[in-house]
Order: sequence, then structure tokens, then C-alpha cells
Amino acid sequence: MTEATAKKDRVLIFDTTLRDGEQSPGATMSHAEKLEIAQLLDEMGVDIIEAGFPIASEGDFAAVSEIARRSKNAVICGLSRANEKDIDRCWQAVKHAARPRIHTFIGTSPLHRAIPNLTMDQMADRIHETVTHARNLCDNVQWSPMDATRTEHDYLCRVVEIAIKAGATTINIPDTVGYTAPRESADLIRMLIEKVPGADEVIFSTHCHNDLGMATANSLAAVEAGARQIECTINGLGERAGNTALEEVVMALKVRGDIMPFETGVDSKKIMNISRRVAAVSGFPVQYNKAIVGKNAFAHESGIHQDGMLKNAETFEIMRPSDVGLSETNLVMGKHSGRAALRAKLKDLGVELADNQLNDAFVRFKELADRKKEVYDDDLLALVSETGAGPEDDRIVVKDLVVTCGSQAPMARLTLSIDGEEKTATATGDGPVDSCFNAVKQLVPHEGKLALFQVHAVTEGTDAQATVSVRLEEGGKIATARSSHTDTILAATKAYVQAINRLMVRREKTAPAAAAEG
Ligand code: KIV
Ligand code: ZN
Repeated sequence: MTEATAKKDRVLIFDTTLRDGEQSPGATMSHAEKLEIAQLLDEMGVDIIEAGFPIASEGDFAAVSEIARRSKNAVICGLSRANEKDIDRCWQAVKHAARPRIHTFIGTSPLHRAIPNLTMDQMADRIHETVTHARNLCDNVQWSPMDATRTEHDYLCRVVEIAIKAGATTINIPDTVGYTAPRESADLIRMLIEKVPGADEVIFSTHCHNDLGMATANSLAAVEAGARQIECTINGLGERAGNTALEEVVMALKVRGDIMPFETGVDSKKIMNISRRVAAVSGFPVQYNKAIVGKNAFAHESGIHQDGMLKNAETFEIMRPSDVGLSETNLVMGKHSGRAALRAKLKDLGVELADNQLNDAFVRFKELADRKKEVYDDDLLALVSETGAGPEDDRIVVKDLVVTCGSQAPMARLTLSIDGEEKTATATGDGPVDSCFNAVKQLVPHEGKLALFQVHAVTEGTDAQATVSVRLEEGGKIATARSSHTDTILAATKAYVQAINRLMVRREKTAPAAAAEG
């Protein structure tokens, strides 16, 4: 379906997980992780992927360019501020896509106008010039008046008209600070469509933040008033309270098609898999009771509910777990299960591995099945989302770890293989994890600052695996790693060591460029 024919009942899904989501402090993703998420978004039927902010960094530029080259279906969009340099840089990155889009924005509310210190007329001129410039480069241009919901209505109409006349094809109306409410969100879109000349030539879009918990409701209200693009992120990832959650708007439109007769192109069965991957790579876990993708979203534990569910699932369920790609059987495999069964089970969970990845996962599955009686879906997902199989993870490897703690002072004796040579250190610390990390630092001195340390129980029970995520930052470089194990301290140490491996690779990759600059 083209964007023009989409205007009747088709709502375009514009995903900004890799731009607005990734912009959230601490949610930084590696280049490979961004490519993986973009591929999943493309495969699930998202219409437009906002892949990044190309002028923000070399890393963002490289990621947007590569995503543009690889995307098969989606329009690939990059963000740019309202100046020619930003827009040119954005175009250089997105132009590789079969269907590129430039997104340019400027803050139009009184508070935002004060920052560049532009008068209303000067800002109007800037909008005309920058949208015209973008349109001379690319046929598909989106323009956003940032903080639109706090912009004077007359001025908003005026600048939207200017952007349309200058060639914008999508007008996005951001509720930048999550301030609006459903009725107001609808009234604003309706007012713009009614009053602005040329409004019927463009697609109106809604971009809501969730500061008051109304982002999904505000987005759907905007659609009912005529918006035909929703900007959103997986798991609602984003700054502060986040953005509109993709899974919520997609499922709301699917389940309540009776009162909201709009459709999206998203394959809802792919929701759970991408939700898990975004949670894993961003280090932002999904809250248990989060709508659609939370661990408890389909759990019916109270006696009354279970009784009703057994008689007729529709008693308490408005959608089926399988609609969002959740497998209905959870107890899966044991130590006698073979490689083919593992491949089939992972496929059922939405994970397809290349042969070498499957071999690696199979070895780790067997080790896990030896330690743990029952291997659940979540155990398998933790296993495949673990970092550590890539060549960049080979330099330093945990060989042996003995930790004493409890009523004695914590102490760790650690043996690492460093470039093939085994070295051992003993260290103390404020607890077992601190002792292990101190032992690592003795063996591999580094300046990496621990920016994230997160422990997450994969399943219930005292024999559950823990997934530990670690993020290190050193001189603007970020390395994230994850490890899962039934021994939480070992998982933490392995994740820490892998993050150091990755930091060393990042350091080495940038060294020649830095030398050339110097
Ligand atoms: O929230 C916002 O205003 C934005 C714009 C850049 C579209 O993210
Ligand atoms: Zn935003």
C-alpha cells in the first residue's frame, strides 16, 4: 500500500526506537544491535523506521547509512535540525535507502522559540528555507513543530501551512513534553486539518510522550481526528516516561477495530520477539504488568480467573497470547532434546539462528540442561540473547572463579585467559560482585566506568538463571554485554569481562582515525 492510498483507513506506523528511544539516557545500542533491531522492525511491517540522528555522531551516521542500505520494505528516515548542514548530513545517510525520508524539526512554542532567539517571522522564514532545502534533496520530507501542543494555534497553523507549501509530505505534531490529553490531542489535529490550506495533500502524524501516562490514548485520539501516522517505540522506550508504545497502539487498533476502524501493516505475532530484543539490547527491562508485552500481561493467577479461563478463554482474555507471538506452552526441553528440537523451539519463539550460532546455542543449552531440571522458553531466550559468541569476545575469557562470602569478608579468586595466557588474581570488595570486579581490574587495568549493572531473574525458583547486563563507558565509547547463568556472580563476572573485551575492540577500531586527526 502506498502512503497516498493509506490515507483512508490505513494508519502508518513510524517507529523511532532507534532515534527517540535510543536517545533515552542509558539506552545506547551498539552498531550491530541497531542493525538487528532495524531488521526486525522491517520484517514486522513497520512502515517508516527513524534510524537515528545522523549529525549527532559518526556512529549514528554509520548506523543510519547501513540501515538505509539494508532495509527491504520500510521507508528509512533520519532526523535533522532546521539548518542546511544537519539536513545535508541526514540526506547523505538516508539516500542509500530504496525509500528515504528526511525529517526536520524546530521548536515552535514560545519557550522553544526563545532558545534560538528568533522572532515568529524569522522562524517562519527558517522553516520555509529548511523544508525547501530538504525537499530539493528528497521527495519524502517530514516536518515537525517541536512542542506543538504548547504552541499558539494561530502560529501553528501558519507554520504548518508554510511547511506544506515548501514541500513537506508529512506533518508530525509532537507532544514533546507529554502534556496533552486525548480530547485536546484530537481537537488539535482536527483544527489543523480543517484550517490549514493544503492539509488534505499531506499526512498528519502524531508523536506523543508518556509523561502523564496518556501517550497511547493521545495517539489513538489523534488518529480518530484524522492523523494517519503514529510515531512510537518498542516497549515505549524513550526519554523520561518514554514514547507511545508500538505494541499498544497496534494491538488497540487490532482488538478494537469495531470502534476504531483502522488497520496497520504490522504483523502482531512478531511483537514479543522484538520487545525482548529491545529490552535486552537497551538494558531497559519491561515492567511485569506492562500492557501487551509484560510478563504478567497474559497471566491469570487468581482462582476466579483461572476457573473462567479453563471454561472459556474469552471470559478474561481480549486477545490470545499467540496474537502477539507468545508461545502458549512454556515447559519445553530437557537434556535429551536434540539440535533439531532446539532449532524448532527457537523458531517457534521467533528466533532464527544461522548454523554456527545454533551450534553455539546448543552447547550452552546442554550445559544449562545439566544444571537446571526444567528449561523454560525464557531460559532459551536468555541463552540466545547472551553476548559472547562473537570474535570480539574471545580475547579475555573467564576460566575459573571461586568466591567466598556470607559472614566472612567477601573474596574472589579469579583466573582469566588473556590472549591465550592464564593469569590469576585474588581480591576483596564490598560484596561478592565487587570482589570479582576488583579481581578483573587487577588482571585487566582499564578506565571503563560502570554505567549499568542490572540483574534480572529469567524464571521463577531458586534454581532460576539470572541475566546480568553490564555497560561500560570510556572516553565516549560504550560497550554493553550480557550473560545468563544459574550462578549470578559468575554471570556478572562474565558480563563484565565481555564488556571489557568489547571496549577494547571499540578502542582499537578508533585508534587509527584518532592518530590521523592528531
Ligand atoms: O518529542 C519531540 O518533539 C521529538 C521531535 C524531534 C519530533 O522527538
Ligand atoms: Zn520525541
